[in-house]
Amino acid sequence: MSALVEALTNSRIWRSIFRHGWPDNPLDRSLVMTSNIFLHLHPVKVNRKSLKWTYSFGLGVLSVLLFLVLSVTGVLLMFYYAPAVEHAYTDIVELQTQIPFGQLLRNLHRWGAHLMVIVVVLHMARVFYTGAYKPPREFNWIMGVSLLLLTFGASFTGYLLPWDQLAFWAITVGTSVASYAPGLGDQMRQLMIGGPEIGQEALTRFYALHIMVIPALIALITSVHIWRVRKDGGLAANDSEE
Ligand code: HEM
Repeated sequence: MSALVEALTNSRIWRSIFRHGWPDNPLDRSLVMTSNIFLHLHPVKVNRKSLKWTYSFGLGVLSVLLFLVLSVTGVLLMFYYAPAVEHAYTDIVELQTQIPFGQLLRNLHRWGAHLMVIVVVLHMARVFYTGAYKPPREFNWIMGVSLLLLTFGASFTGYLLPWDQLAFWAITVGTSVASYAPGLGDQMRQLMIGGPEIGQEALTRFYALHIMVIPALIALITSVHIWRVRKDGGLAANDSEE
């Protein structure tokens, strides 16, 4: 058997795919982890406690998954929706009533967005209650706070796009709240909606933020966030002695 394993791991085909021998010793076990892009996300050794699903409830990974679902369904929605005040609303009505699976597509995006806000907040609560914000993870906590704000930003900007009464008045109220901020309140509102009233300028701005700026920032910061988890030695449970 061991002769067979040796022949296999010495073969050119094995060596062209795997850069390590059979993982029956500590060195090759480490190489299995470090030479594989997916396993490399984990430290070479992990604490048993961090593998229990009740430790993190997989909430960070679920946030990533929801972001991916929202990205795919969002691109599909862009095939049918154009951000013009004259027909943004009818585009959505048509999508729901005329396009096969249109209603499903819209609901996947909408419910996915609600779920992402809930899951990201729960992920933050989990990080807080397990004390995973403590050194050396303070930087990742800050990255997390930016991800939380961006998730709220994505929800807020997406809310205006259907251009129905609910969206219109919710954004009117939301942006008016911003104008009460001391000092730069009015300027902030103007910057958000591009004029004195909610109209085409606001829709264009919210659309650009919603489909480009915010998703690009979430993708970029999430990559740094996950890389940082790896560099800090995996989940905080790995710091304990048990
Ligand atoms: C779009 C939002 C977010 C995504 C996609 C995300 C993703 C992840 C992933 C995949 C992990 C590792 C696995 C896990 O814990 O399940 C993680 C860990 C972590 N996250 Fe997030 N996260 C987000 C938001 C946040 C927020 C809002 C905070 C806090 C303000 C935060 C702070 C942390 C910290 C400190 C860790 C390390 C936890 C530990 O070492 O136990 N993240 N995140």
